[in-house]
Amino acid sequence: MQKIRKAVFPVAGLGTRFLPATKAMPKEMLPVVDRPLIQYVVDEAREAGIEHFIFVTGRNKSVIEDHFDRQFELEDTLRERNKQADLEMLDRDLPGAGTFSFTRQQSPLGLGHAVWCARELVGREPFALLLPDVLVHAKKGCLAQMIEAYLAIGEAANVIAVEQVAEELTHMYGVVGIGKRKHSAFEITSMVEKPPRGTAASNLIITGRYVLQPEIFDFLESQERGAGGEIQLTDAMIRLSERQPFYGLEFEGRTYDCGSKLGFLSANVAYALEREDLAPAFRVELARLIGKA
Ligand code: G1P
Repeated sequence: MQKIRKAVFPVAGLGTRFLPATKAMPKEMLPVVDRPLIQYVVDEAREAGIEHFIFVTGRNKSVIEDHFDRQFELEDTLRERNKQADLEMLDRDLPGAGTFSFTRQQSPLGLGHAVWCARELVGREPFALLLPDVLVHAKKGCLAQMIEAYLAIGEAANVIAVEQVAEELTHMYGVVGIGKRKHSAFEITSMVEKPPRGTAASNLIITGRYVLQPEIFDFLESQERGAGGEIQLTDAMIRLSERQPFYGLEFEGRTYDCGSKLGFLSANVAYALEREDLAPAFRVELARLIGKA
């Protein structure tokens, strides 16, 4: 089994759901408590043993690149002020030199197209794909759970993180149908991107974490537009599934869809309540606010 060494992060989206906050700032830099969304997702990939981080960016996204670089002036100032803990934190958040690559999606043609833009950087090896809109709060990171499942399956398969949602929400996501269990995962028997209301095969949705075989690029290459007029990753996965197995993993953890305002606000509350330095005072404040409502 080939090790999963590389992860792709599609970060070219315009973030129109968060205007005006995202007019000049990438949505991936929106903070949950005091860390940008993208940092959580990169940390999840690092925990899973990823060695190379590939970002598919777009116009106005250069601060993401800056975020994963040293900031000498800031570091000098922190050193002068003896802010050792802050310096150590910045250091911890920074993966090693030469482990990052950036490429651009020149037109917003959809997730499938964004992933295809990473083909040269990924090469012909299996890789992870993480959508930074989705935060998964879990004891063991979602991607680490998926790679564990992938290794247990022990064949050149594709693994997708799936979770149950209320039936009335299925039209907003990719939806899978599942069959027989294999180890901790299930065989995927069908996939549909954004099925019209009332037509979904199940209430199991694709969560935004994937382990994919490089053959996916062959199907993305010639792809026609799908749901929403976009080049859809799910459509390429459907075609690949005729040749390779796909498994769905119902991972342990709670998901926050930070692409929606409600998910983003919930993530902030949930992550703040986990923080020793904030939780006691925040709990009191939250109770006061809710009592007022
Ligand atoms: C994408 C995928 C979809 C998946 C979702 C998870 O959709 O195409 O299959 O369920 O992410 O967040 P998007 O959110 O880009 O519309």
